[in-house]
Amino acid sequence: MNHVNVAIAGLGTVGVGTIDILQRQYNKIQDKLGVSLQIVAVCARSKRDRGIDLSGYDYVEDVLSLATREDVDIFVELIGGADGIALQATKLALAHGKHVVTANKAMIAEHGFELASLAEKNGVNLRFEAAVAGGIPILKVLQEGLIGNEVRKISGILNGTCNYILSAMSEESTEFSVMLQRAQDAGYAEADPSFDIDGIDAAHKIAILAALAFGTKPNFAAVSVSGIRDICIDDINYARELGFRVKLLAVAEMVNEKLQQRVSLALVPADEPLAAVDDVFNAVLVDAQPVGHVMIDGRGAGAGPTGSAVVADIADVARGAKLPVFGKPSQHLREALEVGEDIGTGAFYVRLLVRDEPGVLAAITKIFAENHISIDSVIQKNRAPGEYVPLVLLTHEASRVALFKATSRIAEQSVVLEQPVVMEIQRP
Ligand code: HSE
Repeated sequence: MNHVNVAIAGLGTVGVGTIDILQRQYNKIQDKLGVSLQIVAVCARSKRDRGIDLSGYDYVEDVLSLATREDVDIFVELIGGADGIALQATKLALAHGKHVVTANKAMIAEHGFELASLAEKNGVNLRFEAAVAGGIPILKVLQEGLIGNEVRKISGILNGTCNYILSAMSEESTEFSVMLQRAQDAGYAEADPSFDIDGIDAAHKIAILAALAFGTKPNFAAVSVSGIRDICIDDINYARELGFRVKLLAVAEMVNEKLQQRVSLALVPADEPLAAVDDVFNAVLVDAQPVGHVMIDGRGAGAGPTGSAVVADIADVARGAKLPVFGKPSQHLREALEVGEDIGTGAFYVRLLVRDEPGVLAAITKIFAENHISIDSVIQKNRAPGEYVPLVLLTHEASRVALFKATSRIAEQSVVLEQPVVMEIQRP
């Protein structure tokens, strides 16, 4: 039987989850792979008790020496961070002919092409299933299961913390700040939750998915990103009344042969499968030809789900799989022609705060008409003559540029208080 030696760098939630699975499933994995898979060494900042037995492994303090250790075949990077020691150790391991498995979305989204080229040059694998949507094996689906398809669009709920907050706000009709605190108390959101709630985490993940789906170099810098910090409970409730759920959606699609990547709040029709993905769950919907729609959902974070994805990558490498890092040889990865956020068309939810007096609706709809935007429906919430009331409009499919122009002009009107709230309606 072949022997494959593994080193684990980083003993946080994911590191411990990975080791726990490898220990519990030791015999089954060995049986399935026909390979003896051994953890030989681990590395962490401190040697404290983590609730698992680490006594059989060498404890190494210096991650760089672990990355180059003679007896290591697979270096598992679970430290995190786009740059710094994680990147340094990964490069060193690849350069020394080690296969690398990582859960580090920031590092892959920001340095993926360079690392893929280095892995290829050294004839080793670089795998990162756990970097996107935790336990959901979406990278395998794109790389292998859908290889005969042309992907048109990927839409994902890729951040469990945001999905938890939005679902709970909708369920209990409660403000964002209350639900953020609850997410932090439950250990979902970090103490500094900005990576989650400002959309950065989802942006890293969609940049990786886009590269795999469209055969382009990962380009995190080109993702248009906004988060959920400014979401107002009224918009969630109005959307619900209108038959939608509000989700933080990460989308990558080809528009006129150019790649558009965005993370933003969006309205999803309540009868679409993505709308039913609640709580901390993640989901990815792929629109591809000829297969049509494929959706996969599951837990996007946590020791078990993320450890499951890390173990799947380790197992693939151990059984000798050799897959190109982004689905094809890196010299074939295209530089994506990127489009700005305002290109293409979409249908929109627009909420205004307007003075309740005759002629206001006519003035607003005139601006939409002048910009060739057709209105689907208009609802005035409340009645307060002379005071300000919410006015909610849904548009038909319209040019994004035109919508931006119209809402900018509407915001300038003296009868309009506050910036308009605009969210795109996402129909798969
Ligand atoms: N913080 C992420 C989330 C999980 O809330 O989904 C790790 O990517």
